Amino acid sequence: MSIKDKVLETLLRADKAVSGEHLAKSLGISRNGVWKNIEQLRREGYEIEALPRRGYSMKTLPDRLSENEIFSWLTAESIGREMEIHDTLDSTNTRAKYLASHGAPHGYMVAANAQTAGRGRFGRNFFSPGYSGVYMSLILRPDLPVERAVMITSMTAVAVARAIERLADVDVKIKWVNDLYINDRKVCGILSEASIDFESNQLEYAVVGIGVNVGKIQFPDELKDIATSIGNEWKGCISRNQLIAEICNEMEKKYLHMDTTDFMQENKSRSNVIGREILVLRGSEQFKAIAEDIDEQGHLVIRSEQGVQRVNSGEISLKI
Ligand code: BTN
Repeated sequence: MSIKDKVLETLLRADKAVSGEHLAKSLGISRNGVWKNIEQLRREGYEIEALPRRGYSMKTLPDRLSENEIFSWLTAESIGREMEIHDTLDSTNTRAKYLASHGAPHGYMVAANAQTAGRGRFGRNFFSPGYSGVYMSLILRPDLPVERAVMITSMTAVAVARAIERLADVDVKIKWVNDLYINDRKVCGILSEASIDFESNQLEYAVVGIGVNVGKIQFPDELKDIATSIGNEWKGCISRNQLIAEICNEMEKKYLHMDTTDFMQENKSRSNVIGREILVLRGSEQFKAIAEDIDEQGHLVIRSEQGVQRVNSGEISLKI
């Protein structure tokens, strides 16, 4: 890590102003060296205040994704350690699938400031306005049979919910299986795609796409009653870089325990579906049911006129 990145990391992690003297001593450089690095960071868009007798304090961050800033928050050792960041991409999932099929390693991340063709489930678009959301895709290479692939989405939902709550004072709920909600509105969608090895029936790789609405966003008419953003629900300010790093950190913790089902307990306790009447949408079929439980494999247990069933994919609607 360069000296400039170390200065950045120190300022980002500090909860009060950091003196030039402290920076100089801890980094083994002169006070003039500190000042030069601060100036460089300012040129890159960091607004750093110099407070007389107290030192330097980070006021605002540049509104763009930065590998350095992500690294300064990253503690995960495999997830997010290698990445590419784009200003604009059609879809980070499309790019990550291409890279995965060309051998990109486990944990590789693709992120973009904006997507022109963000994809949701069932061929829908994902609204991805520039600089106000996190649009990222992770390549995972789990040792997992196809039947258990739904666990990846369940695990991701818990990891992202935790990451958001770590940075913002909000309660995040999970709408089985791939949506996160704050105050009854969708704040995040997850799109998991996979390539399967038919010989072994194992996943060759999975690409997990995560889209989180972060800034203060004015949604178009068709979304304004169903979608929300962290910034629309909480008055604080979140760094998208930090959120990406926290998601990777939480993903790694959960991923290491994917063979156990501990995180399913949390997934269940965050559910905004259990106990509610839902509409199950399966192909051209639609029927009402009560969502009774989420089992240890991440399947939704529903009760309808057809009896009790376990659903492992498809879509449900909470609007009856
Ligand atoms: C859904 O709501 O149905 C899932 C939305 C997933 C959106 C994310 S944004 C990053 C990644 N790239 C995409 O094209 N889609 C996912």
